[in-house]
Amino acid sequence: MDITKPYRTTKTPLIEIYGLRKSFGSNEVLKGFDLLLNPNENLVILGKSGSGKSVLIKCLVGLVDVDEGKVIVLGKSIPDLNQKELDYIRTEVGFLFQGSALYDSMTVRENLQFPLRRHPERMQHFNEEKLVREALRSVGLEYAIDLMPAELSGGMKRRVALARMLILQPKIILYDEPTSGLDPITANEIIQLILRIQRDYNAASLIITHDMDCARVISNRMIILQDGINYAEGTYTELSKSTDPKVKAFFKEVQPISL
Ligand SMILES: Nc1ncnc2c1ncn2[C@@H]1O[C@H](COP(=O)(O)OP(=O)(O)OP(=O)(O)O)[C@@H](O)[C@H]1O
Ligand SMILES: [Mg+2]
Repeated sequence: MDITKPYRTTKTPLIEIYGLRKSFGSNEVLKGFDLLLNPNENLVILGKSGSGKSVLIKCLVGLVDVDEGKVIVLGKSIPDLNQKELDYIRTEVGFLFQGSALYDSMTVRENLQFPLRRHPERMQHFNEEKLVREALRSVGLEYAIDLMPAELSGGMKRRVALARMLILQPKIILYDEPTSGLDPITANEIIQLILRIQRDYNAASLIITHDMDCARVISNRMIILQDGINYAEGTYTELSKSTDPKVKAFFKEVQPISL
């Protein structure tokens, strides 16, 4: 596979990004970034801190305005949508923020009720309490329904945030650093949960991570965001064999410092 070209299958991509540019003042963050997300795949974005990964996924849900380029999600051009259309797209695209971003003054139940009450049309004929309990069950936390976020561990918070995102049954899921700040065992539980979500919900996911173990286990394909562009693309195995020093840097073992 040519790791410099976006990989395209015969199926219509769920996300298409072409030539995306975004600057903040003189800080050029994205300089012509391209990406395709295909149905039912887990696509990992790797990039150094500050390379623009969070900015990139915020552009996908209209939380950051685009300077130039095309951003098409489920066939809709995001920069051209009005607020109502954006609100609708956000029900189709689940977003797990960096950190968990639960509402601290609400119980776990209320946190999960929140998206349902904003989008009653998505409840169809289901009962709210049943949907809340099912979403919590799918992350193994039904027993925590009446707890406050302050009473949860970091891993539990991440799982509640996952349940709150799943409750609207999104077609695409965006994960911003899903394992950051977690110990390796809890991080692995979250990784297993993400794999199960891909299988059970038949959703496609874009996962931002620094965690190479997470990237190896979770990805069907990976993109390295470097210098504001899609610098390299391929499977974990393909990229791990790259001779490009900027790609190799991501796969380097950390060497002990000799004092
Ligand atoms: N709202 C904003 N206003 C001004 N500059 C911003 C804004 N959001 C992001 N930036 C800048 O854009 C650059 C990319 O930030 P971003 O948060 O996307 O990095 P990242 O790759 O997600 O890093 P990390 O791995 O540390 O989360 C940084 O230089 C940051 O300072
Ligand atoms: Mg970030």
